[in-house]
Amino acid sequence: MAKIIRPAFERRLDADPGKSYTLPARHYTSPDIFRQEAEAIFFRSWQYVGHVEDLAEPGAYITAMILDQNIFIARGKDGILRGFYNVCSHRAHELLRGAGKARVITCPYHAWSYHLTGELRTARGSEKVAGFDGKEFCLKPVRVETMGPMVFVNLDGNAEPLASQSGGLMDEIRKFAPEFDRLTKVASQSWEIEANWKVVIDNFLECYHCEPAHPAFAQLVDMDSYRSTTHANHSTHVSRSGRPDNKAYKFDPKDGSQVAAFWWLWPTTTMNVGPGEPNMAMFYIRPLGPERTLEVADYYYLDGKLDGQRKERIAYANNTLQVEDNNLCEAVQRGLRSRGYTQGRFIVDRERTQMSEHAVHHFHTLVAAAMGVTAGN
Ligand code: FES
Ligand SMILES: [Fe+2]
Repeated sequence: MAKIIRPAFERRLDADPGKSYTLPARHYTSPDIFRQEAEAIFFRSWQYVGHVEDLAEPGAYITAMILDQNIFIARGKDGILRGFYNVCSHRAHELLRGAGKARVITCPYHAWSYHLTGELRTARGSEKVAGFDGKEFCLKPVRVETMGPMVFVNLDGNAEPLASQSGGLMDEIRKFAPEFDRLTKVASQSWEIEANWKVVIDNFLECYHCEPAHPAFAQLVDMDSYRSTTHANHSTHVSRSGRPDNKAYKFDPKDGSQVAAFWWLWPTTTMNVGPGEPNMAMFYIRPLGPERTLEVADYYYLDGKLDGQRKERIAYANNTLQVEDNNLCEAVQRGLRSRGYTQGRFIVDRERTQMSEHAVHHFHTLVAAAMGVTAGN
């Protein structure tokens, strides 16, 4: 593992959000710090990679990039989900692309083949090679866990199980989205944002910007009842539904969710329930570089149809809300490069209202802890 250089904080990152400064700007721009985050954060945390419906049948597989690490997850003939680095043990050709179904995994280069358990099945000509031991060339596993219908991987073999890291999160989600396990994907969209991944997460974690920057959202969601609560590795953001005749999308106040509820799970996964018929939108991000981030949105409903309120909601989320947020994030990223800015302060209140940025502070303390600096030090 690469040595992690302890970043010095210019001004105090305090355990109390009311006293704390924000993460220094260079944490959002420095290629060195981005490289340190790979080992300190991305190669040892649980990353959302997809939904169990994409891995329903034996042999079904999906692939995912965790920074530069290509991995795949496949369901075995025994029904077990397993994850592996997506690389051939012979001379390192990538094995699988995208998503699909395979009974065996065959490398496109020299046709070595592997069982879905990762064991080497065949290696052409290896019988002529003295001392060739197929057991040495099994695929290298990565951890896979599910939480409800969500599939996560972790490249750290010693990581604490997801379930124990995210205590209570699934119960909370089920309370606000009791149909979650029965929902199915109706649409997907992705964006490349010219901003550090933490700018995108910071933006998700507060609604202080909602009234000035998202006028329609501030009608869809009842701002006065918006509350954010932080937990060990996740935060919860809940409010009552706003006006059914809002400018975002119309919904029947008697139908499905009477609330808007958003969850963030350390470090890059969010789950989002909007007002209206039973729904879930998974928004998750993949850093592409120190100042570039891929964000993916998958929308789930009770059946596969994309019509009426759903269409309106998804169009609003993709074409208005996300565009507003992406513009904010990119403008912040440009600002973080400015010689005129180093750190800010959080606006917080005791009631933890929609004006309060304590959940952003919570995220910053988790980043600092992962990078080897404890808040308050
Ligand atoms: S690199 Fe895969 S078979 Fe040679
Ligand atoms: Fe926003």
